[in-house]
Amino acid sequence: MPMDPHRPRYHFLPPHHWMNDPNGLIQFDGLYHLFYQHNPLAAEWGRMVWGHAISRDLVHWEHLPIALAPDQLCDKDGVWSGCVVSDGATAAAFYTGVNPEVQCLATSQDLLAWEKYAGNPIIAAPPDGMAVTGFRDPYVWRAGGLWHMLVGSGIRDVGGAALLYQSPDLHTWTYRHPICVGDRARSGEMWECPNLFPLGDKWVLMVSPFGRTIYFTGTYADDRFTPDYQGEIDLGGCFYAPQVFRDDDGRRIMFGWLFEWRDKAAQLAAGWAGVQSLPRVLSLGAEGRLHFAPAPEVETLRRRHTHHPELRLLPGGDLVPGISGDQLELSLTLHLRQANRVGVRVAVSPDGAEETRIIYDRQAGVIGLDTTRASLDRASHGDLHAAPLTLRNDEPLRLRVFLDHSVLEVYANDITCLTGRLYPSRSDSRTVSLFTDRPATATLDAWELASMEEG
Ligand code: FRU
Repeated sequence: MPMDPHRPRYHFLPPHHWMNDPNGLIQFDGLYHLFYQHNPLAAEWGRMVWGHAISRDLVHWEHLPIALAPDQLCDKDGVWSGCVVSDGATAAAFYTGVNPEVQCLATSQDLLAWEKYAGNPIIAAPPDGMAVTGFRDPYVWRAGGLWHMLVGSGIRDVGGAALLYQSPDLHTWTYRHPICVGDRARSGEMWECPNLFPLGDKWVLMVSPFGRTIYFTGTYADDRFTPDYQGEIDLGGCFYAPQVFRDDDGRRIMFGWLFEWRDKAAQLAAGWAGVQSLPRVLSLGAEGRLHFAPAPEVETLRRRHTHHPELRLLPGGDLVPGISGDQLELSLTLHLRQANRVGVRVAVSPDGAEETRIIYDRQAGVIGLDTTRASLDRASHGDLHAAPLTLRNDEPLRLRVFLDHSVLEVYANDITCLTGRLYPSRSDSRTVSLFTDRPATATLDAWELASMEEG
């Protein structure tokens, strides 16, 4: 079979068929485990199971057999998203069984063989009298001698909500209250996949209100979360339902589902759909904003390196630094000087008919990812996505760009991420170039990146 030109090579995806949310992220006995929402029968969403993979370095993954599949009455229609926690030598997986949406438990000693709790569901229904918009995606942690669980939910006509339950033993759960209720106009009416964790001197609540992922930083006291900042996790338009876990080094690491931007027929024909983002390390910046950086382990993929210490960009024509490929990392520092609009093109065809642009507009304070001309193939859906980014006076634009066939991840000045999908129809849509509207300078490092299988 010819190589599928759009299939990512250094991002994680299952051998075949459909994947969505990352689930159950944990480092257990030193190994990283990634479970994920998976339809093992087709490249479309269906009756979900938990797929499973392990890694020593977050970058090279080994596929393992399916971990959890529907086999109880309460999960007969699917094993939906959830988490894994360790309770001494035992691992406990919490997930949503459907239909209806109920919370379930399975345990394991080795994370390979799982035993579902005979008393499932452990939470059989949403709180009495609450008009919920959903009830799923348990997130569990231990504090103060008790287990705590958030269930993603929302109150109809009010806003998203993260519902708190507590348990002395992982089996018996008591409802307490919502730790936080959002405002429907600002943060949606249903919060999928809640995550709550301390970072620096703040707490972070991260939720996925259909199609976008937002975070709040604030305080968490007396089992209530009070937000004082609201931000976006990734504004590129294909990043959703992330999960964050703490590894043995104390890092908070996030994976998110990158969904496809092409027709269902094209996905079915390709035989795969859905990719995980690169592992992103989170830290807390000024004003309660999150900072994002690809995990340093990703650097082990770097191969052929090109270094351009001082490129002079001029208006009226692109600068072509002689870099091309579909598995690339670019690290770019752009000094705008008098320039207002600067940017990078990737996956450019020789005649310019196909190209993907990353554009920074200083006056507008906006960074954009433009895939409207990424492909001549009508089955793929390009778009223009933008995110706010304000640079201080002479602060340079710092971009880290990861191209992996149909995946493009952009990290701008550590605080803004834009991840998109591109499906160029031509095999020569491979060139990188830089552009500006006034003279500017740039430092550029570029690497070809190895495929995951190359070790
Ligand atoms: C998020 C989500 C979750 C749910 C899962 C089902 O993408 O809708 O809320 O548990 O996917 O696959």
